[in-house]
Amino acid sequence: MSNMQVTNSSTTLRSAAFAPSNIALTKYWGKRDARLNLPLAPSLSVALAELGSLTIVQPAADLVEDVMLVDDKPLDDAGMVKLRRVLDIIRQKSGSTLYAGLRSVNTVPAARGLASSASAFAALALAASHAYGLQLSPQELSVLARTGSGSASRSTAGGFALWHQGQAEDGSDSFAEQILPPEHWPLRLLIARVCDERKAVSSTRGMAQADTKSLLFAAWIDQCQRDVVDCRAALEAKNMRKLADIVEGNALAMHATMMAARPPLLYWRPATIAVMHTVRQLRSEGADCCFTIDAGSSVVVLVEPQDARPVADALAAIDGIEEVIQTRIGGGARLLPGGQD
Ligand code: PMV
Repeated sequence: MSNMQVTNSSTTLRSAAFAPSNIALTKYWGKRDARLNLPLAPSLSVALAELGSLTIVQPAADLVEDVMLVDDKPLDDAGMVKLRRVLDIIRQKSGSTLYAGLRSVNTVPAARGLASSASAFAALALAASHAYGLQLSPQELSVLARTGSGSASRSTAGGFALWHQGQAEDGSDSFAEQILPPEHWPLRLLIARVCDERKAVSSTRGMAQADTKSLLFAAWIDQCQRDVVDCRAALEAKNMRKLADIVEGNALAMHATMMAARPPLLYWRPATIAVMHTVRQLRSEGADCCFTIDAGSSVVVLVEPQDARPVADALAAIDGIEEVIQTRIGGGARLLPGGQD
């Protein structure tokens, strides 16, 4: 990370953090408060070991505004609004008025339904709170990350994480915690990348559309409440067949809700559907695997280690699959020593 110097700063405060991306096993798709990213249902996820964001934060007296580079490019306007929201909370808590220079490197392809915003805001929350001298509890850190991007609340926790819906109006009880460590069930994750187009509709916009305009929305939220309970039980029992029913059913129900919105949202490409059929076929032949899909066309497959190789090979052979990335379940957000490269 030797190119991660933050320039144009005159103070010595500097913190760096890594946070993993995460993939929801039961999804967050619907908000009770759009400003605070408060969900209408709890959700469950797994963290991706080395796929995520590395972020360096340096508050500096000579900056007249916050400056953020993501993969060496200035962050777009929508991203800056969310970033400032998180930094303003930190400044308010710490009593500092300093702006910050930030740089982030993503190891997750952005905006292809692979939740790069989850790792980005989790890494930001940890690095920035540390740079401004705050020592947040795991719960407070998750709440802070959530204000940038809802799913980021689960990336701070890592492993198998449960994001509690919460009841409080200020969102203080809507946080994620690790319910099982990564080693509980060392599944492999295969990310079947479908196409190189950036997705047309962001999750923020898509969720607002589904929320107010999908005729299936109320039923979807009820289903999520039940799926979280059943998914947790399947994880605890390490029961892949049961997990497959819930995880695939939940992802398909979320996409059905999107498709039933006005205007309808359709993220899938032909290869998305081909991957789903292939996974089901392989499972019927004995492979322990199941799929899920976020707000994009790519598909993530959970698979027992002994079946990872043949399943990955079968996915890579599908027309329209650009690559299959293999990873494991990992821990949560962590500070990098001294904020050094
Ligand atoms: O946190 P956001 O605004 O990027 O929304 C994430 C939405 C999904 O990835 C589709 C589902 C989820 O629970 O991660």
